[in-house]
Amino acid sequence: MSSDDWKRQAAAEALKYVEDGMKLGLGTGSTAAKFVDLLADKVKAGLKVVCVPTSEATRAQAAALGIPLATLDEHPALDLTVDGADEMDEELRLIKGGGGALLREKIVAVASERVVIIADSSKRVDLLGRFPLPLEVVPFGLAATQRLITGFAADSGCEGDIKLRHGANGAPYVTDNGNHILDCSFGVIDDPEALDDALKLVPGLVESGLFLGIADVGIVAGPKGVEILSAVESDFDEEM
Ligand code: 5RP
Repeated sequence: MSSDDWKRQAAAEALKYVEDGMKLGLGTGSTAAKFVDLLADKVKAGLKVVCVPTSEATRAQAAALGIPLATLDEHPALDLTVDGADEMDEELRLIKGGGGALLREKIVAVASERVVIIADSSKRVDLLGRFPLPLEVVPFGLAATQRLITGFAADSGCEGDIKLRHGANGAPYVTDNGNHILDCSFGVIDDPEALDDALKLVPGLVESGLFLGIADVGIVAGPKGVEILSAVESDFDEEM
């Protein structure tokens, strides 16, 4: 089996959390796209859901597949979001934003009662940080913002290269919100909460790819099978 098969396996498992009548958040990336494909089959078979996409790419995919869509303004409280991740630790702390959609992903996830993260086993880590941490930043004052990020990150024990992400056309990557992404190669992040708190002090930084205390369930598929991780204090567990 390939990582593509495992992504599909995790996505199929996440379908079990979907119920008729739910308002769903749809994540972004290759794993989330597999969930959208499978969800579309269920919709064609009669499942009634309304979905809020976390990116223009996911919006286009879901619309093409005939999935009923709405905005977060129309449905500001969602039942469930299913999304992928770039890294996931045992406590369901995540790094997200490899696909550049971290801001909308975080807004949609936090507006959801339950968040299920799907991934192949390459995303499962003991400590966050092997994947460069994406930060969404406003274009204005970028050099000053980056300088502050470097200082605050160092104060919380994180140092390393910070690179402005570029798109395939060689120009700085622009998010769906008109911002840029800084990819921070800090290496192991010993204290993600401290780093997250520090980054919140930077005005030009709109949001970080650290998703802490947001995921309720992690579904990880790999050569050893499907592993389900649950957040410790989630009330989701009691209901399942
Ligand atoms: C996009 C994300 C994605 O969930 C993350 O990059 C994982 O993508 P993939 O499933 O393609 O590996 O955070 O902003």
